Amino acid sequence: MVHSKGKKAIILGGSSGIGLETSRLLAENGAEVIVGSRRGALDEPMPGIQAESVDVLDREALKEFFARHGQIDYLVNAATGGQRAVGPFLEMDFEGFQGSFAKLWGYANSIHIGARHVNSNGSIVLVSGYPARRFKPGYIAISTVGNAVEGFVRGMAHELKPVRINAVAPGLIDTPMFLQEGHHREIFLSESTRNHLIPRAGKPHEVAKAILFALENDFVTGTTIDVDGGALIH
Ligand SMILES: NC(=O)c1ccc[n+]([C@@H]2O[C@H](COP(=O)([O-])OP(=O)(O)OC[C@H]3O[C@@H](n4cnc5c(N)ncnc54)[C@H](OP(=O)(O)O)[C@@H]3O)[C@@H](O)[C@H]2O)c1
Repeated sequence: MVHSKGKKAIILGGSSGIGLETSRLLAENGAEVIVGSRRGALDEPMPGIQAESVDVLDREALKEFFARHGQIDYLVNAATGGQRAVGPFLEMDFEGFQGSFAKLWGYANSIHIGARHVNSNGSIVLVSGYPARRFKPGYIAISTVGNAVEGFVRGMAHELKPVRINAVAPGLIDTPMFLQEGHHREIFLSESTRNHLIPRAGKPHEVAKAILFALENDFVTGTTIDVDGGALIH
């Protein structure tokens, strides 16, 4: 049986990278998929996926967006939210550190506003990231935000039950979040992953498969699923 067939899913941040692959996989499995992102369109239209413009940091727009779509079965938020500050904390522009939390505010907004639209047998997935539990110099802002996302999911699993909520924590994944191109990109991706147990960047569909697992498996809630090529334990 295909579990997602006939389900209605909202994928915030679904126009690129991990969110886009999740949308594609759900649509291929027969779900009705609504993508929300600021640009409000996919680079290429895909069957079964409708794209709309919504900024996860704009609560009024988000309220209208969810109200328009009524009840849903699945809610995924994979939106990056904004800029990520990199560098040592003591030298970091403090506004940059605070700005990195846009990802958390976008996630919190989408649950605060969207959770009441999720059916009682429905499921929610947020995307954290391996720096949440693997500290590296220069990544303190990203680690702190990732930790907050995973803690939020654990706590919210109690408040939202019977609706399930989980986090998926990707390792380094080859997506448009990284702006490098060509040779520079190849060097960046291979250098950043060369000490990982699986020494390559992950692919968005490898993370999307874990998101689908968390959405579909009725016995999984309040946890974080790592899809990181061994980045956590290297
Ligand atoms: N790639 C990695 O190596 C990696 C590693 C660990 C964790 N992650 C996490 O995985 C998630 C997905 O990342 P990705 O690599 O797939 O990034 P991506 O390819 O850059 O996609 C980000 C998506 O978020 C949307 N978005 C950003 N800000 C938004 C906002 N304010 N409102 C609505 N939509 C917004 C973007 O669309 P618009 O620009 O049109 O709004 C886009 O659809 C993020 O939470 C990221 O932190 C990624």
